[in-house]
Amino acid sequence: MNILVAASEMSPFYKLGERADVIGTLAQEIAKLGHDVSVMLPGFSTIDRYRFGFKSLDLEIPIPIGRELWSIEVYSSEWNGLTIYLLENDMFKQGSRYSDINSKENINGLRFIFYARAIIEVTEALHINPDVIHAHEWQTGMTFAYLSTLFKNSQLNKKAAKFFTIHNLGFQGIFSESVFTMSQLPREVYECQLRYHGNVSFIRGGICFADAITTVSETYAKEITETELGMEFQKNLQDRKEDIYGILNGIEYKEWNPETDRYIKQNYSIDNLEGKYECRKSLLNQCGFEAEDNVSLVGMVTKLNDQKGFDIIEKATRDLHKLDIRVVILGIGTFEWHSALLKYQELYPERLKVFLRYDKRMEHQIYAGADMLLMPSKYEPCGLGQLIAMRYGTVPVVHATGGLTDTVIDFYDNPENGTGISFKDYSPDALLDAVTRAVNAFSLSDRMQWNNVVKNCMSQDFSWKKSASKYVELYNLISKKIL
Ligand code: GLC
Repeated sequence: MNILVAASEMSPFYKLGERADVIGTLAQEIAKLGHDVSVMLPGFSTIDRYRFGFKSLDLEIPIPIGRELWSIEVYSSEWNGLTIYLLENDMFKQGSRYSDINSKENINGLRFIFYARAIIEVTEALHINPDVIHAHEWQTGMTFAYLSTLFKNSQLNKKAAKFFTIHNLGFQGIFSESVFTMSQLPREVYECQLRYHGNVSFIRGGICFADAITTVSETYAKEITETELGMEFQKNLQDRKEDIYGILNGIEYKEWNPETDRYIKQNYSIDNLEGKYECRKSLLNQCGFEAEDNVSLVGMVTKLNDQKGFDIIEKATRDLHKLDIRVVILGIGTFEWHSALLKYQELYPERLKVFLRYDKRMEHQIYAGADMLLMPSKYEPCGLGQLIAMRYGTVPVVHATGGLTDTVIDFYDNPENGTGISFKDYSPDALLDAVTRAVNAFSLSDRMQWNNVVKNCMSQDFSWKKSASKYVELYNLISKKIL
């Protein structure tokens, strides 16, 4: 099959969030299964043209936006079995990256309708002829609104199955109505599909016009149609219930491998965990903690924002402090949580260490060195942290939501096969109870049970192979259905 991926970010070219890793690895795994995969990305200025060998295709295509014509230049590179296209225009070199109406900036609205339409025009100009167009997140949502209306009679629209993946419904691409007007799409598209409280929502383009909608875990696929996690789009999503599929993300098993990881103090495997103990000692050292062997070292590698559960952590802080734990947190996020965490670090310097930065090496060291990984997310479409932690024998303690529900088996409920601890209510008490249960199990002099959980974690398979095949199956199914 010929598959065209459209996204605003993809590792290693450009990454702001986890989905960049997901999009990058998925595309490569699908190519490995024998398919032709090309990817279109906006030409953000930080993408290293030289390193990835991008060459100009000497192609300039005018794209109508409002009453103007903006032009797109195309660069391409062959990389790891994929053809990568960079769509270049000065629009991608200015303004903040994904801001929406909340920041009163319309620039993103304009550049992502421009980008959405450019994807179609460039695909046609280059005769890519895909069987599937797989678009990710609101930044590409409008592509399908264009295809289904202005480009309705094109070969591309007739042939290609339209896939739209939601990585996080919390980001909806909302802009003022005037942005919609610039798109030149028929007015009824706004009235019937895209209008959201008097504004336009780009993610609705994907939700309403895709042939299939996927999201990154089965539970999240249910949650967004059945609960308030639909974030006011439940109705739209319910209307499309038959076309929504949950496919769990995987992780890149070459990058995340305690046996070969070059960032960690000592490599280790499920058969010999000595290295993990060394990694733990080294992490304690880096944090400036003095700790006994039976004190739990809790890691968090996370964005510091409201989705990630910091409100319940904050409310439980005083009680958490009574437990024999050390906590290390790595991440960046909102100003509010940066300053709150620094304040707590000052209060509890011997127990809490925060690293407010993005740091790949440190990330690996925390996954390897911590005893447990805390992920109390309010909601979590999939989550990659718990998957990585398990690969490193670090036991996840999670709020049972979305992908966390689908991947972590509570070992109090299932002592034989358990891989972590999960709590159901999103509350400080439930969080405290879960951490207490984890700490108790860890601090027992007899570590038999804990070691069993660690080994269960390490023997899970969250590699991409399974998930990539599921996507391909679905591509086949939907392609047949639309013919
Ligand atoms: C978003 C989601 C996260 C998911 C990731 C990749 O960041 O919040 O849960 O794992 O996308 O799909």
